[in-house]
Amino acid sequence: MSRAVILGTGSCLPKRIVTNAELEQMVETSDEWIASRTGIRSRHIAGQGEQNFQLATKAGRRALAVTGIDPQDLDLIIVATLSPHMIMPSTACFVQAELGAENAFAYDINAACAGFTYGLDLASNYIQNRPDMKILLIGAETLSARVNWQDRNTCVLFGDGAGAVVLGGTNDERGVLGSRLHSDGALWNLLCMDSPESNNPDLRTDDWVGPHIRMNGGEIFKHAVRMMEDAVNTLLRKHGFTINDVDIMIPHQANIRILKNLRERLGVAEDKVFVNLSKYGNTSAASIPIALDEAHRQGRLHRGDLVLLCTFGGGLTWGSLLLRW
Ligand code: UT7
Repeated sequence: MSRAVILGTGSCLPKRIVTNAELEQMVETSDEWIASRTGIRSRHIAGQGEQNFQLATKAGRRALAVTGIDPQDLDLIIVATLSPHMIMPSTACFVQAELGAENAFAYDINAACAGFTYGLDLASNYIQNRPDMKILLIGAETLSARVNWQDRNTCVLFGDGAGAVVLGGTNDERGVLGSRLHSDGALWNLLCMDSPESNNPDLRTDDWVGPHIRMNGGEIFKHAVRMMEDAVNTLLRKHGFTINDVDIMIPHQANIRILKNLRERLGVAEDKVFVNLSKYGNTSAASIPIALDEAHRQGRLHRGDLVLLCTFGGGLTWGSLLLRW
């Protein structure tokens, strides 16, 4: 059976780096608090010429360059994002136009921070049915446009950026082996962001608080650790692996203490977990593909390695995915 294999990776971070010291000038916080509670030391924040689709396009172009695949040979472009350039058309359509990928159809998905992993599962299913497909999957966010910069509970956590992978079919041992994805919409209000205020007066509500990220950090923390642990263990068991078989784990980068808790519960060695959170903060759907690209460029991924992704985000959405590099 054909499987979806990652043929190339790419990423793009905005030029401007905002340190914790700079945030101290904006809200009542400190470098010490942010670094010790989250592990974040700086984040990249988008400026002119760095709209979501522009970061996404650059990341996509870099991933394509690694593979030598021409944009015209792409069949599909998927962008995972919760901060799209516009509500309509999709960010993926902007990327398609920028790349000149005129033979590809294009659409966005939103599974919050879990979007890239959901997208990889989706792309993998396409390729199992049509192994000749070439798919560009991108996670891209400009969350700086959506956070409330007066809310210290959230504004210190997030960053902007994009990561991309190009996928094709293979019949060798490589590729996506399986995934375990979950959602629990009943817990929507633990992490959410309102839409713009309604233009229809009859649909306006009194409790509209602005289109900003709102979060119950403590509850999210507890759910994140437990749910990712369960998703990883269930997936490993299903495929007859133990955590010791995993060569590298690339988790969603949200909080260093979440990762430490998860690592200890799973019993995975620290040097097997890829972490770049201190430089970028939480880039939501972009965090795993940025990390994948960085791990690849650092020579941390070798052919045949068993790679474990795990993720968690608003929805709630969470899950794990195994692939052979
Ligand atoms: O992709 C998934 C997205 N979300 C997450 O992964 C978030 C998961 N949760 C977390 O990362 C952590 O819960 C936070 C980093 C958000 C918060 O850490 P915490 O250790 O759970 O702190 P807390 O919310 O219990 O707050 C402790 C104190 C509070 O003050 P009081 O009430 O004890 O006086 C907060 O008001 O820290 C205060 N605080 C801050 N102080 C300085 C909250 N934010 C800040 C801040 N700077 N930026």
